[in-house]
Amino acid sequence: MEAAGGTEETPLPLALSSFQLSEELGFLLPDPLAELPAPYGPWMEVARDLPQLVASHRLRSRVHQMPQLSAQHLRGHRELRLAHLVLSFITMGYLWQEGEEGAVEVLPQNVAVPFWEVSQALGLPPILTHADLVLANWRRKNPNGPLEMENLDTIISLPGGESLRGFILVTLLVEKAAVPGIKAVIQAIQAILQLDEETLHRALRELAEAIGDMSTALGRMHDYVDPAVFYSVIRIFLSGWKDNPALPAGLLYQGVCEEPLAFSGGSAAQSTVLHAFDELLGIRHGPQSGAFLRGMRDYMPPPHRALVERVRRAPSLRQHVLSRGDTRLRAAFNRCVAALADFRSHHIAIVTKYIAVAAAKAKAEPADRGGPSMGKPPSALEAKGTGGSHIFSFLKSVRDSTRDGMIQA
Ligand code: HEM
Repeated sequence: MEAAGGTEETPLPLALSSFQLSEELGFLLPDPLAELPAPYGPWMEVARDLPQLVASHRLRSRVHQMPQLSAQHLRGHRELRLAHLVLSFITMGYLWQEGEEGAVEVLPQNVAVPFWEVSQALGLPPILTHADLVLANWRRKNPNGPLEMENLDTIISLPGGESLRGFILVTLLVEKAAVPGIKAVIQAIQAILQLDEETLHRALRELAEAIGDMSTALGRMHDYVDPAVFYSVIRIFLSGWKDNPALPAGLLYQGVCEEPLAFSGGSAAQSTVLHAFDELLGIRHGPQSGAFLRGMRDYMPPPHRALVERVRRAPSLRQHVLSRGDTRLRAAFNRCVAALADFRSHHIAIVTKYIAVAAAKAKAEPADRGGPSMGKPPSALEAKGTGGSHIFSFLKSVRDSTRDGMIQA
């Protein structure tokens, strides 16, 4: 097993590879593995069958029968990432198999110990993160085909069928649309240092364009994800055990430590993309929202977190734009901020549809909405995000502080 990647200061020019960033795919893991080495067959067998095992209430007993395997024989980053993906999905299914009221407080040793070892090696928390659910959970159906919805599939799944597939893959398409924007962030930092105004201007144009493309990609959620399925089936499996009344003390990782531990659930608030954009544009969020978002950085792979930190410590773009007094540059900067605020407004509309409206509908027509596969929606999550935030006050404050980042004439 290999150690987590280092996060030391990276010299200029900033190389994408030093932040585990790919030229083509940004933060997405290139060519994720879909199979672990043979000794880990028992994990893969359970992971491949998760939707059925959960639906038939057999996952917990299957997990109890799994042998205790050591993570020591995993080799290389991609094996570790698949192991984290597999063990995090098994953990979420195990905990939430019987819904919110039937949550268990102990993760058995045969999952907890290797999950802990793999998490330590990657520098990730022992819970499902955005880096698992989306960044490492995709494959091309035709290996030579494009990175488009029709040619994509997930590797590991949970209940939620096509809607879960759509939720994961649309989020992947948002990450893909962000790639030119991430490269533009790096170019902008270098352009400021080299006082290269033309390159800076071009980078800001590309950034605004990429954010617009992310909003378009986000809109595809409407085509692929059914709000009732998202709200009543999928959401609970993304939920964590921090500030969650269903597991007030957190989760005991048997064989790892004596006390329960608390971790937030999976959320795209853990995506590195918007953190990097906020830092470049000098967006300052309010104390509570800012603290929540900073906490989300602990759920990113360390090299991605290091990029956010590097952008934060770079010379201030905002100060640079203010000091130049160049109206063209100011307009380009403001277009980025406006595009980011627009993305956040689109996101609020999506969250309203998939959580607030879906919750109201679920309450209005409780019993026979969707047959047996529609569980009782988690009441602890009615007003909270899977990451544990108070959704709408949080999202609106983040959107409004983005708008406040505009530079007035
Ligand atoms: C059905 C689709 C989605 C729903 C219901 C949803 C829901 C939420 C919720 C409830 C939060 C609050 C934080 C938490 O506690 O988790 C949040 C935050 C966030 N989500 Fe989503 N989300 C969806 C899709 C996406 C996608 C595709 C992206 C883009 C990659 C995204 C990016 C973010 C970001 C960046 C935040 C942090 C707040 C911010 O920086 O504006 N979300 N989301």
